[in-house]
Amino acid sequence: MNAHSLDAVILAAGKGTRLYSDSPKVLRPILGEPLLQYVYAVLEPVVGAERVHTVVGYRREEVEQAFPERARRFILQREQLGTGHALQVAWAALQEASARWLLVANGDTPLLRQEHLAGLVQLRDEDVALGFLTVTPEDPAALGRVVRGGDGGVRAIIEAKDYDASLHGDAKEVNAGVYLFDMERIAPLLGELKNNNNSEEYYVTDLVGLAVARGLDVRAVCCGDDSGLLGVNTPQELCDAEELLRVEILDAWRRAGVVARQGESIRIGPRAKLSPGVDICGPVEIYGESRLGSGVQIQSHVVLRDAVLEGCIIKNFSHVDGAVVHERCEVGPFARLRPGTELRAGSRIGNFVETKKTVLGEGAKASHLTYLGDAVVGAKTNIGAGTITCNYDGVNKHVTQIEEGVFVGSNTALVAPVRLGAGSLVAAGSTVTQDVPPGWRAFARSRQKNVKRDKDPC
Ligand code: UD1
Ligand code: CA
Repeated sequence: MNAHSLDAVILAAGKGTRLYSDSPKVLRPILGEPLLQYVYAVLEPVVGAERVHTVVGYRREEVEQAFPERARRFILQREQLGTGHALQVAWAALQEASARWLLVANGDTPLLRQEHLAGLVQLRDEDVALGFLTVTPEDPAALGRVVRGGDGGVRAIIEAKDYDASLHGDAKEVNAGVYLFDMERIAPLLGELKNNNNSEEYYVTDLVGLAVARGLDVRAVCCGDDSGLLGVNTPQELCDAEELLRVEILDAWRRAGVVARQGESIRIGPRAKLSPGVDICGPVEIYGESRLGSGVQIQSHVVLRDAVLEGCIIKNFSHVDGAVVHERCEVGPFARLRPGTELRAGSRIGNFVETKKTVLGEGAKASHLTYLGDAVVGAKTNIGAGTITCNYDGVNKHVTQIEEGVFVGSNTALVAPVRLGAGSLVAAGSTVTQDVPPGWRAFARSRQKNVKRDKDPC
């Protein structure tokens, strides 16, 4: 076995009782991404994605659904009897494939960074049996306290619930919940974990005291007072972690040349990418794999998720989700672009228009009060106010094809599947159920009849 081989385990089986939610804690989002996503993003480059395992338990199906590509490496902890128990379960599952070293991280530590891990994994060179990261925050809160001896050496981690200052002194250093184990030397200690503490849980942190008692080399790597390293347990901590990351990401984009006005209300997720010169005004939310190319302008109250934008303007109160918008397009105000939308160059979507799985050709327009679903709209076509594609028959979805240069009059229902040929016209108020040949006009409304009133009202 390679002396440096390394596996990793993320402990993510807990419910997160102190967050008062039925959703598993590791799925709670910050800046649009589940907490667990952040831990993967840090561990996978260090250890290799194939070597990162996850202990799941509470509502594990939901965690599996959120990370289907990683579910193969999930380890089930049926009952959550504590972090030490989670490690025992993982250890048993890993034994065969296991490496010499095991990196373990709590799943609720979204602001962990690769620099932090670097200090820990390099302990392999010093042949340390157990290493862990520590922080010295202003308030040690409910975290595990690190107890050191007169020589400065680590003696134990004592959990807050079991901590007695008169016995253990006034320790300011706390455990960050990230550990490195030499599997061979720590294995004999695993079975010695007991739950005779105030939480009646098996603590992973008790391994520190057990290893010290055996005379093994145990090291704490102190990461200063970096409060970002503290776990997320309470609503306050969830919001604090999100705010720290939000400010950090915003500042980085400003340094990279993004004009971010009203920065205090701009939220940009960690996977979004913005080009220099992009101009945004908060409040704005930009999440997922959003890509904002140069020249993009985003007005206030816009929400973007997985939006790919090039040289366009998104006006106030618009939502763009899973859509591609090309150069010179204008969207909104109050527009909603849903997944599968593509707006080709110079096209326009106006207020109270919703699109889904729809391509709008170059220079085409849908300016007011319209729903376009499963539609292909040709270049320079004009979609009148109040046009609806009736794409769903209660069982299946059907496509509406509108070729180029078509004029669709206001208040038109297009009952799919249907095709409007190039250069055709649909009279306002029509319900179109049959294809319209290219260049023809369709009237699909009842004829107006004027009848004289019986009494003259004047
Ligand atoms: C833990 C540490 C504490 C440290 C803190 C840092 C223990 C006993 N204490 O406390 O010393 O200061 O992290 O953030 O480890 N989990 C399981 N199975 C379980 C229980 C928990 O997988 O049976 C998972 C949780 O989902 C969570 C992680 O382990 O992601 C940590 O559990 P948590 O209850 O948050 O531990 P803390 O009390 O914060
Ligand atoms: Ca925690």
